Amino acid sequence: MTDATPVRDYIRTIPDFPHAGIMFRDVTTLFADPQGLRRCIDELVAPYRDADIDMIAGIEARGFVIGGAMADRLGAGFLPIRKAGKLPGRTISEDYALEYGQATVEVHDDAIAPGARVLLVDDLLATGGTAAAGLKLLSRLGAQVMGCAFVVDLPELGGRRILEDLGHPVHILCE
Ligand code: PRP
Ligand code: HPA
Repeated sequence: MTDATPVRDYIRTIPDFPHAGIMFRDVTTLFADPQGLRRCIDELVAPYRDADIDMIAGIEARGFVIGGAMADRLGAGFLPIRKAGKLPGRTISEDYALEYGQATVEVHDDAIAPGARVLLVDDLLATGGTAAAGLKLLSRLGAQVMGCAFVVDLPELGGRRILEDLGHPVHILCE
């Protein structure tokens, strides 16, 4: 790997995880490489350098890694969007559909000042269900959502279209 290696080349694919037939895009190899991680964060923050972002909202768990680094780079705060039952203060929650069953994400109800300029981030966009639930939470908190950023899109699952139809600009590094 060199300074010119594209972000996608740091991501490995593991067949049959977590179920037979699924090709799992594994970003741990991207996060583990100093040049890869630096390039990933450089490219994720590039469109937002002059956007006066107040908070990065990162989705558990891999959205915390890139979200924390992006927040530091942009001089913003970090807001964790967590799976149910993890946050100690008073929360609001949104349910969303998984391939089998459903899940819930939560934020503290006092996590941002109303009108704050917030960017939603995660490692990967698949069906868009997780990100859409996160966006609902941000809108209930009174955030001004400035966009959504992801490292990887799985285009055949249609998540990007769902987020764009909700009116949010989407920035993604690779498919
Ligand atoms: C993955 C990924 C996104 C979500 C995308 O997380 O990190 O958060 O799935 O899928 P969607 O667009 O279909 O909603 P996962 O649910 O595997 O949780 P984890 O990060 O805690 O492992
Ligand atoms: N990688 C990581 N998270 C995921 C994937 C994947 O390929 N598909 C759905 N969530």
